[in-house]
Amino acid sequence: MALSDDFLYRLRDAADAEQVVSPYVRLKRRGKTLVGLCPFHSEKTPSFTVYPESNSFYCFGCGAGGSMINFIQRIENLDYIDAVRTLADRFGLQMPEDGFDDTLSERRKRILSANRDAARFFYDTLFSENGKAGLDYWLKRGITVQTIKHFGLGYAPGGGSALTDYLHKKGYTFTELVDANLSRKSTRSNGYYDNFRNRVITPIIDVRGNVVAFGGRVLDDSKPKYVNTSDTLVFKKGQGVFALNFAKNAATDRKLIITEGYMDAISLHQAGFTNTIAGLGTALTSEQARLISRYADEVILSYDSDEAGQAATKKAISIFSQTGVKVKILKITGGKDPDEIIKEYGKERFKSIIDSGANDTEYRILTEREKYDVSTDDGKLEFLRAAVKVLATVDDGIEREIYASRLADEFSVSKDAVLTQVNDTIKSNNKKREYERNRKITQESISPRDTVNPERRDHLKAARAEERLISILLNNPDFYRKISDKISPKDFITEFNGRVYSVISSRLEEGKSIEIDFLSGSFSPDEMGRVSKFIIDGSRTVGSVGECEDCIKVILEEKNNGAKVRPSSLSDDEWAKKMNELKMKKNT
Ligand code: CTP
Ligand code: MN
Repeated sequence: MALSDDFLYRLRDAADAEQVVSPYVRLKRRGKTLVGLCPFHSEKTPSFTVYPESNSFYCFGCGAGGSMINFIQRIENLDYIDAVRTLADRFGLQMPEDGFDDTLSERRKRILSANRDAARFFYDTLFSENGKAGLDYWLKRGITVQTIKHFGLGYAPGGGSALTDYLHKKGYTFTELVDANLSRKSTRSNGYYDNFRNRVITPIIDVRGNVVAFGGRVLDDSKPKYVNTSDTLVFKKGQGVFALNFAKNAATDRKLIITEGYMDAISLHQAGFTNTIAGLGTALTSEQARLISRYADEVILSYDSDEAGQAATKKAISIFSQTGVKVKILKITGGKDPDEIIKEYGKERFKSIIDSGANDTEYRILTEREKYDVSTDDGKLEFLRAAVKVLATVDDGIEREIYASRLADEFSVSKDAVLTQVNDTIKSNNKKREYERNRKITQESISPRDTVNPERRDHLKAARAEERLISILLNNPDFYRKISDKISPKDFITEFNGRVYSVISSRLEEGKSIEIDFLSGSFSPDEMGRVSKFIIDGSRTVGSVGECEDCIKVILEEKNNGAKVRPSSLSDDEWAKKMNELKMKKNT
C-alpha cells in the first residue's frame, strides 16, 4: 500500500485526533489524554483513551487502538485506503493520484453509485404510467407525496428486468448489478432479472447519505411480504439503521424512538415524530445499539404489541443495558403497531402513549407482577422478592428509592425493609461478579485466546522478550543502530512479533519514521491495536540499550532451545518428516 510518507505526514497534521474522534465519542480531558466510552465494545466506565500527542487511540478494555486512520477504519467499517480517503476528504487534503490498490474500494463505489441510480429509477417509476399501482398503494396507506419525496420512496415494476436493463444501458456490468444485489442471474436462461419486482420500495440511507440497500413490500397479502437487499460490500443487515440520517438531527435532546419496521418509522416521521428510527427486520444487534448510542442517551422502544414484538423488546432492553443508554418501553394498546395507532386514533394518542411510557424498570416490575397472584400472601411475597431482584439491577439510587416507596405503599411493608433487601442483593451480585471476573482472569492466564498473536501463549517467555524489545525500540528508535546486527526478524519466535520487528527494522534501515501513522497501513486494525499497546507500554518505563540486549539474549536462547520446533504447530506429515530428518542425522 504505497502511500508516501510525505502524504501521511500531512494527513496526520491535518486530522487532529480530538476532532476525528469527538463526533463518535464524548471525550473528557484527563491530564494529557482524553477519555470516553469505547465505541468498539460495551462498557459503562471509560477505558477508551485518545493521545493527542501521538494522534492515536487505545482502549484498555478491548485492545482496539492505532492511528486516526485505524480509528476511521474500525468505526466506519472501511478498508485502509477508504479510511484514508475519508480523512483526507474531511480535512481538505487531496488524495495522491496513484500508487495504491483500490479495487475493493472501486467496487464499493460502483455499488453505491448503482444504488443511487436504482433509487432514482424506482422513484421516477412511481410517478410514471408504470408506477400507478405503487403510488396507489402508498396513498392508500396514508403516505403523502411529500413523505414519498422526503424518503425517496418508489416502486419496482413487475415484469422481469426493467431495472437491470436500465442500469446495464447506463454502463453497469451485470457483475456489478449482482454485487449490489439489484439483479440476479437466471438459472434457466443466460439472462439477468430484477431482484425487486412489483413492490413498493424504501431506500435505506446511511448517516453519510449513501443509499446502501432497499426494502420492497408486496402490494397485497402475498408472501414473502418483504424482500430486502442481502449483505453486500456496502451493507450488513445487522448494522443498518433506517432513518438515522434524519433522526440524528431531530434528536436534539438525544432521545430516539425505535420501531420494528421502516413502515412504522415512515408513518411516525409523517406524524411529526422525526426522531424515529427502525431496525431492518432483524433483532437488534449490539452493533446497531452502539451506532444508536452515538446519537442517543435514551431510546423509546416502540415495538409491535404481538409476541414477537415483546420478545424483541426484552432482547433490546438487555442489549441497551450494556451501552449505558436508558430505555423506555411503550405499552401499545388498541393497535398492533405504531402505524396502526396513528392511523386509527391520530398522533395525539401516540404522543400520550409516549409521554406515559414506562421505563424499563417499571416494565420489568410489571412483567414480574403478571406472573404472581398478588391477592394472596404467598403471591405477594414472591412478587416482592422478584421486584427486589429487578431493583438490584438499577444503577441509579434515587430511582431505586422511588420504586421501593411505591412497592412499600402498595403492599404495606416498610420502605426500609425493601431497600435493605435490595442492597443485600446488590452486594451479593457484586461479589458474584467479582468472583466471575477473577475466574475469567485465571482462566485466561491458563488458556489465553489471543487472535492477534496465537503463538504467544505457547512461548510466553520469548514473546514477552520480543514485545519488550519492540516496545523499547518504538519509543527509542535511536537504539536500533546499536542492536540491529544482534538480531534479525527471522530470529523471532512468534510470527506476529517477528513481522512487527521486520516492518520497524526495514523502515529504520531506510531512515524512515516509525511513528504510528506510518505503520498503520502495514497491519490489520486488530494488529494495530497490539502495536499501540507496545507503544504505550514502552512509554511508561525507561528503556535502555542494555535492556534491549537482555531481551535479545532471551529470544536467541529460546530459539536455540528449539522453540521453533513445536509438535503442536506441525502437521502429522511435517512431524514425520522432521523425525526422519533427525534419524538421518543420527545415522550419518
Ligand atoms: N420483515 C422482513 N421480512 C418479512 C417480514 C418482516 O424483512 N417477511 C421486516 C421488515 O423490515 C419489516 C419488519 O420486519 O419492516 C416488521 O415486520 P412487520 O411488523 O410484519 O411489518 P410492518 O412494519 O407492520 O409492515 P406492514 O404494516 O406493511 O404490514
Ligand atoms: Mn404494520
